Amino acid sequence: MSNIRKQIGHIISGSLTEGLTMRLAADAPLDQSKAGRFVCIDGGSYRFFSLISNITLNALSDDFARTSRATDNSFTSRILRKNNFFTTLSVKPLIMLDAENNKLPVKTLPSHCSPVFEAHDDEIGLIFGTESPHSSFFNIGAPLDMHSPVCLDLSKFAERSNAVFGKTGTGKTFITRILLSGLINKKAAVNLIFDMHSEYGLQARQEGSNKHFVKGLKTLFPSQIAIFSLDPASTRRRGCAPDCEVVIGYDEITVDDILLMSEELSLHPTALEAAYLLYARHKTQWLKVLLSSESRIKELAQELGAHVESLGALHRKLKRLELFSFLTPEPTQQSVVKKLLTYLDRGISVILEFGHQTSMLSYLLVTGIITRHIHHHYVEKTEHFLANPSQNPEPQKLIITIEEAHKFLNTQAAKQTIFGTIAREMRKYYVSLLIVDQRPSSIDPEVLSQVGTKLIAQLNDDRDIQGVLTGAPDSAGLKAVLSTLDSKKQILVLGHAITMPIVLKTREYDATFYKEISLNAEEEKDTKQLINTIF
Ligand SMILES: Nc1ncnc2c1ncn2[C@@H]1O[C@H](COP(=O)(O)OP(=O)(O)OP(=O)(O)O)[C@@H](O)[C@H]1O
Ligand SMILES: [Mg+2]
Repeated sequence: MSNIRKQIGHIISGSLTEGLTMRLAADAPLDQSKAGRFVCIDGGSYRFFSLISNITLNALSDDFARTSRATDNSFTSRILRKNNFFTTLSVKPLIMLDAENNKLPVKTLPSHCSPVFEAHDDEIGLIFGTESPHSSFFNIGAPLDMHSPVCLDLSKFAERSNAVFGKTGTGKTFITRILLSGLINKKAAVNLIFDMHSEYGLQARQEGSNKHFVKGLKTLFPSQIAIFSLDPASTRRRGCAPDCEVVIGYDEITVDDILLMSEELSLHPTALEAAYLLYARHKTQWLKVLLSSESRIKELAQELGAHVESLGALHRKLKRLELFSFLTPEPTQQSVVKKLLTYLDRGISVILEFGHQTSMLSYLLVTGIITRHIHHHYVEKTEHFLANPSQNPEPQKLIITIEEAHKFLNTQAAKQTIFGTIAREMRKYYVSLLIVDQRPSSIDPEVLSQVGTKLIAQLNDDRDIQGVLTGAPDSAGLKAVLSTLDSKKQILVLGHAITMPIVLKTREYDATFYKEISLNAEEEKDTKQLINTIF
């Protein structure tokens, strides 16, 4: 080990379950020991990489501590203070390296008095992997007060559902854009992004300046992304004609899609029963029949054997759908959903922009319809592949990004809707979710426990902090770390795709990033031909 690095303290006590306590060296500046920082303990046979989770001020004599004053700068007072006061840090060893730099889980501890050092930049690469054109490691930020990039393993990331949490304005959308850029650049997964606020595709506003815009993913990867729009005029106003204008026929909406909106519409279960009766009789025409039967609800109820009040309520509530310009009573010439699946099958990611259609109702409806078809399509594709792997290609992994995820994944919805199914079991079928949300406590605990990798920005609500760390090893230590995050551009990352939990300042999403992430002209050209030949 290099001998120029600075010792900042030594170990005085601890246990495997509770973590270690180190005493800070008298000459080590206290203000550089921050919760969330990364330290290295030299334990002889192993180096233990650990996270600072707490800082405690101690005194040998409580009486002296009570009577001593910082303003008293006399020589004796300074000596007494030096001998009496000391600082301890709680550090949790998270991984150990042996002499050959193999990464091992922590199953032993460094002995008493083992020296503790600041971690080195070159150790970060050893532990978290390094980015290179042919590896799946992708830089997402740097540890606090360090410069070395910390990488996520994107191939592992794409294996499970993942989440970005944090209260409003903490940088969730920015970090999600960075993650998606990585997934596209490294071809780790194809993506479907439900872009409720139209901030992923084209340019997006950056806070703090009205005139400052950042690039969208379509701008960074023109031939890797198709934009579908529910509000084509809005997409055009922002400088790009959508690749597909979304129009959905009433015949493509099922009762299950309505189920997802039942809370938003305050639909009573009896109204849903009436919808099922309608569907049983009129099949794909059920919604058209319902909405065109305003003057004959009573007769319709009699024909179906449904309650008049329930059917009337269903009619009243679903009448709101007539206001959506992207819905049409007549069947469409070509199903938008099929078109979208064709893009995804060819490895081209799709951003679905909502433009001005930002009501929660349209978001729930459209995401529900599309995701239901995806579910069906990927189950079929996987079964074909498994039945005959030599003939049928292995499906490419698909990641569905949803903001406001608690609307789909609260305990009630997660049990009934397609999003719950995907979060729980679709990774077997090559589909997973990227959940973006500010209220993790509203998400079903079972879904939260399935999340592979979490990127967590500042959260204030105790229930949210509790929820997000449920099931994490050493959740008490991580909770302390989480409470110290800045209100922007700092995240705690933990889970499947990262070697150990760590606090990062997130990578800047700026001109340097655009340059590093964009594909070279050759790669762009290859896929440009592909995107142009689809339709
Ligand atoms: N990685 C980053 N690079 C550059 N700027 C960033 C980054 N992360 C955050 N910011 C700044 O922080 C602001 C807020 O970030 P962002 O819009 O991602 O927050 P959010 O958590 O998605 O908020 P909301 O919940 O309201 O959608 C951005 O406008 C930008 O100025
Ligand atoms: Mg956002």
